[in-house]
Amino acid sequence: MRTYTSNSRLQEALLGARKLGQTIAFVPTMGNLHEGHLQLVRKARSLADVVVVSIFVNPLQFGPNEDLDAYPRTLAADKEKLFAEGTSILFAPSVHDIYPEGMEVQTIVRVPDLSETLCGQSRPGHFDGVSTVVSKLFNIVQPDIAVFGEKDFQQLSIIRKMVTDLCMPIAIVGVPTARDADGLALSSRNGYLNAEQRALAPLLHEVLGNCREAIACGFDNFLQLESHARMQLHRAGFVPDYFSIRDARTLREVTAQTEEVAILAAARLGKTRLIDNVRLSLNPVSDWGMLATN
Ligand code: PAF
Repeated sequence: MRTYTSNSRLQEALLGARKLGQTIAFVPTMGNLHEGHLQLVRKARSLADVVVVSIFVNPLQFGPNEDLDAYPRTLAADKEKLFAEGTSILFAPSVHDIYPEGMEVQTIVRVPDLSETLCGQSRPGHFDGVSTVVSKLFNIVQPDIAVFGEKDFQQLSIIRKMVTDLCMPIAIVGVPTARDADGLALSSRNGYLNAEQRALAPLLHEVLGNCREAIACGFDNFLQLESHARMQLHRAGFVPDYFSIRDARTLREVTAQTEEVAILAAARLGKTRLIDNVRLSLNPVSDWGMLATN
């Protein structure tokens, strides 16, 4: 595994691979790698000749009162994990490499509408930071394929839309959420939870699953389902940010045209903000043919 910190060195290396006709799959991360990230790397390996993983804690996607400084940085351990997974190239640029003229004068890539709802409401500017850094990384790496986790379902939807709108010739691949045995979605932020909060945390996935079950059984009063779920979480000690049943394609309200429903939630446990989602295919052919995802 080769490690590059400079854009130009990385691009030189990738030019060599492209000349040999090799395909490139890219996994952007912020490091502190866990099994969920490694599943993305494995997926990338199964799809392309060369796998590039980036580790960059992107300041542009953190709000002023968020955890940028506290965000876990574990480069040495991350390198070992990536090496063990057969990663070809690690790209680990500095903030200066990515924003040489500073973030204040950086051109912003904004995906309207999708970026403003759900997490976008409580984290204003967050997704502008994500779509900007991901488009910069895409331009540096120029991958054929890029792999993202479905845990950040809204992020994945935004990246898909950005790639379509900006005619970027990159196939975006989503990988199902990796979970602990008790259902908690793996996240670098789980490390902030104390023992009591960690024991409570899987309830988020349980409540999402119950809601999916109710919809699959034909219960269609979504407002009631959402407020019941929020109440359950609140009573257990979460501070829910949102619990919302949406069309999985548009992230807008479910309509008669909706083919797949996404149930998305964000809630705080102490200072830790957890997000998760589950999905449900609505099979128009038969009332019984509903398929649950993750
Ligand atoms: O999902 C993440 O880790 C980040 O949002 C990403 C996509 C690497 C952009 O900084």
